[in-house]
Amino acid sequence: MAWNDNRHVIAVADPAALAKAAAERVIARINANPGRAAICLTGGSSPMALYQLLGSDPYRGRFPWDHVHWFIGDERFVPPTDTLNNMAMARRIFLDACAPAGNIHPIATDLADPDQSARLYESELKSYYGAGVLNPARPLFDLVLMGVGPDGHTASLFPGYPAIEETERWVVGVPEAHVEPFVPRVTLTLPALGSCREMLFEVAGADKRAILTRVLDGENLPAGRARSTGEMIWLVDQSALPENFRGR
Ligand code: 6PG
Repeated sequence: MAWNDNRHVIAVADPAALAKAAAERVIARINANPGRAAICLTGGSSPMALYQLLGSDPYRGRFPWDHVHWFIGDERFVPPTDTLNNMAMARRIFLDACAPAGNIHPIATDLADPDQSARLYESELKSYYGAGVLNPARPLFDLVLMGVGPDGHTASLFPGYPAIEETERWVVGVPEAHVEPFVPRVTLTLPALGSCREMLFEVAGADKRAILTRVLDGENLPAGRARSTGEMIWLVDQSALPENFRGR
């Protein structure tokens, strides 16, 4: 089996336990940073329970909201009023009720095309970071949340697409999605996502087991190519856990 040196798979009982374990990790990362903390959220359905926990007691009171900045790892190129919009989902579930508006950093989708949105978000990230080149000793994010799609994509980095090979740009436009919803996307690239103290994948459900097995076996898929300059955690519930990880 091909292993990332720093990859750790943590098995949990079920989606509820997974959300709690993820919330503890997010809060620990925020509180470990005495200055401002940057969290990069993800879309899809997997993180919804985590977002609900972060926005409710007792989790909500366990970290300084003023010190946390919230970004998004990929966005569907639809208006924020569209239910498919990733940041709008996070805003609806917890950010709008808890975070100062100036600490929420959505990807703008009202521009002419996804590439323009990507360039704008890249400038925003560079300005937040205070430099145009990523320094491995000073990660962009404290924690980056990730999910895995049925084809092995992560963020909006799809298998076989040029975006996965990007080494210079921090954010790129993706004109066509490989899986539903078939709307153009804007996505952070592997170097930008990987510039973090912790990359945290959340994977739950029996329908994820086959693709997770392929990813963890080292197949050349975007989710398997994601690397972090810091910790690399895969939180997996029992129903998604590949056979060869059971009982470890
Ligand atoms: C998106 C996501 C995407 C997602 C995976 C897993 O915009 O669709 O960011 O990368 O994380 O497809 O999605 P689920 O959590 O819904 O399985």
